Amino acid sequence: MFELTGKISLVTGAGRGIGHSIAMALAEAGSHLVLCSRSRDELESVAQEVRALGVKALVAPCDVTDAGQVQAAVDAAISEFGAIDVLINNAGMTIKKPAEEVPLDEWQKVIDVNLTGVFLMAQAVGRQMLKQGHGSIINISSIAAKTAITGSLAYCASKGGVDMVTKGLAVEWAERGVRVNGLAPAYTETPLVKAITDAKADFADRVKARTPMNRMARPEEMVGAAIFLASDASSYITGETIMVDGGWTANGF
Ligand SMILES: NC(=O)c1ccc[n+]([C@@H]2O[C@H](COP(=O)([O-])OP(=O)(O)OC[C@H]3O[C@@H](n4cnc5c(N)ncnc54)[C@H](O)[C@@H]3O)[C@@H](O)[C@H]2O)c1
Repeated sequence: MFELTGKISLVTGAGRGIGHSIAMALAEAGSHLVLCSRSRDELESVAQEVRALGVKALVAPCDVTDAGQVQAAVDAAISEFGAIDVLINNAGMTIKKPAEEVPLDEWQKVIDVNLTGVFLMAQAVGRQMLKQGHGSIINISSIAAKTAITGSLAYCASKGGVDMVTKGLAVEWAERGVRVNGLAPAYTETPLVKAITDAKADFADRVKARTPMNRMARPEEMVGAAIFLASDASSYITGETIMVDGGWTANGF
């Protein structure tokens, strides 16, 4: 059920953090990998790790906000492997600023990467999956889609949008064999969060206190849900976003 042997998976933001952990888990489950992100050097090193597991890896650098680069990466994947079975739409970023101080260009950047990037990649890969008549798309959401995070207005708005892209595509493509789901982490120990904890001394302690499990997640704790959603184990699930949040969204107080 959880078998991914011989499948082709494309992961954005695969160079580090959650994307890197999910890419390695897909490789361990037998999938070949298409690795996308902006930095070729970071991806080349992940590709070596992936190949050491006995599966193939294609490095396809792209900025997910650029429709031409997204299409070029998808074309490269299809020309190398002939299909794309799984898409992990993971690339993301944030800025931390009080809402009243967010400049338009910074708002736009977050929306471009987190929301428009997810749409562009889902559309380009989705066209191929619709042709194949099968595929599983997993959009990386966040607790910020469900609960407001102070100082992260653009991020919250972008992730709320991601959840609706997930539902919209799921409904539109369900009959044609393409499933679209989300995975929503809470605070996870990655470079993205390290930048915040480094800047704010009490941040990590406040996150722990708010989280029923009283700790942040490790990136590898995102992979179980990702493998489940990528594989036939979730064959009747579409339009759903799974919270992987240590109890964060269940917690009212
Ligand atoms: N770390 C957390 O606490 C947390 C919590 C909830 C959701 N998330 C989400 O998980 C995903 C991964 O986050 P992470 O913590 O691993 O972040 P990270 O900063 O460690 O990694 C993000 C990756 O995305 C890539 N990326 C950024 N902008 C890009 C662009 N324009 N084009 C292509 N690639 C780009 C980066 O190069 C990097 O490889 C993001 O969508 C993030 O919003 C993270």
